Amino acid sequence: MRKVFDETKINHLVLQNRLVRSATWEGMCGGDGRPTTKLAAYCGTLARGGVGLIITGYAFVRPDGRQLPGQLGAHDDSFAADARLVTDAVHREGGKICLQLVHCGGQTMSKAAGCQPVAPSALKVDQFPELPRELPEHEVRELVALFAAGARRAREWGFDAIQIHAAHGYLVNQFLSPLTNHRTDRYGGNLASRAAFLLEICRAVRDAVGKEFPVMVKLSGSDNLEGGFDLEEAVQVARMLDEEGIDAIEVSSGTPASGDRISVRQGIETREQEAYNLPLAYRIKNAVSCPVMVVGGMRSFELVEGIIRREEADYIALSRPFIRELDLARRWESGDESRARCISCNGCFKPGIKDGGIYCVVDKIERESREITL
Ligand SMILES: Cc1cc2nc3c(=O)[nH]c(=O)nc-3n(C[C@H](O)[C@H](O)[C@H](O)COP(=O)(O)O)c2cc1C
Repeated sequence: MRKVFDETKINHLVLQNRLVRSATWEGMCGGDGRPTTKLAAYCGTLARGGVGLIITGYAFVRPDGRQLPGQLGAHDDSFAADARLVTDAVHREGGKICLQLVHCGGQTMSKAAGCQPVAPSALKVDQFPELPRELPEHEVRELVALFAAGARRAREWGFDAIQIHAAHGYLVNQFLSPLTNHRTDRYGGNLASRAAFLLEICRAVRDAVGKEFPVMVKLSGSDNLEGGFDLEEAVQVARMLDEEGIDAIEVSSGTPASGDRISVRQGIETREQEAYNLPLAYRIKNAVSCPVMVVGGMRSFELVEGIIRREEADYIALSRPFIRELDLARRWESGDESRARCISCNGCFKPGIKDGGIYCVVDKIERESREITL
């Protein structure tokens, strides 16, 4: 019977358990995206906490693909020594670390991007005020090469895997979605054409890193938007990725425009509110042969254990619970199986923007009030 703390393999990468720290922007890098000792220490602590695989925050492949402050960059060879501090810190603790590659596309602002944002089509997206510029075909091909260059750097910098961010309304997701992709060239139209950008990235990345290096994709099981990329299309894209030899698919959903069905849902209190992407992940798992990770609202160990035992997904990815408890995996493994203490308030974004790095604001308030009482 499958268990959470089984040792498993993704391609040639051995993982000590089935718990994954889903990609989480840490907000700890320099203004140019250079990794810092603060990020290295943070990732080292996470690894010491026993999580099987850490996926970094979204690392931009080109500066105009940047969004939030302190975001990691994967575009500059001169970051090698600093990035090594991060991967070494994780490996010293016996952990494994994967670099997530992104271009934020139309979901950014010129202040962060340094120029007018770009997108598959010149369509403004909800929540972002500016009209993006449509990428010409030659620039789409350039971006494919930049994802591959980012993956090549990840390998050189000591990362154990890479993940292509194709979810949450960012550039690759924008190409997939009929709402944001109105192109009439070979990157727009039917699903195969809308998926061409992602598939070309996968091929270029594979060429850059070789057969044995794990290449994964974070895919939206649905945009959760009327007329958007939906589950039926996601299942087909997952099959294409599987045939292409992708090593794992992490299933998420939603964009910032998806109302109460965004990627980072708030107020997960009941068991029914947990694991909100599981139905999508389960459909995708049944359509592919590669391992499937599910992310979104997993809080109870019993539920996590059940998903693994029933083989509804192969890995459980969590983001906010690891911000509150960096040692959550160790705690569960040691037998304290009480629910993750994260209350899903999304307060963790604020210190990432204002204080040079994410942390759990609720935990901080509770600690401070305990100190005052003492
Ligand atoms: C502070 C913060 C930063 C995030 N950064 C990223 C990111 O860089 N890339 C990504 O794919 N998802 C990112 N996410 C989304 C998470 O990976 C995850 O999909 C989502 O939070 C739902 O999982 P959870 O309920 O376990 O938090 C972020 C979430 C939070 C709270």
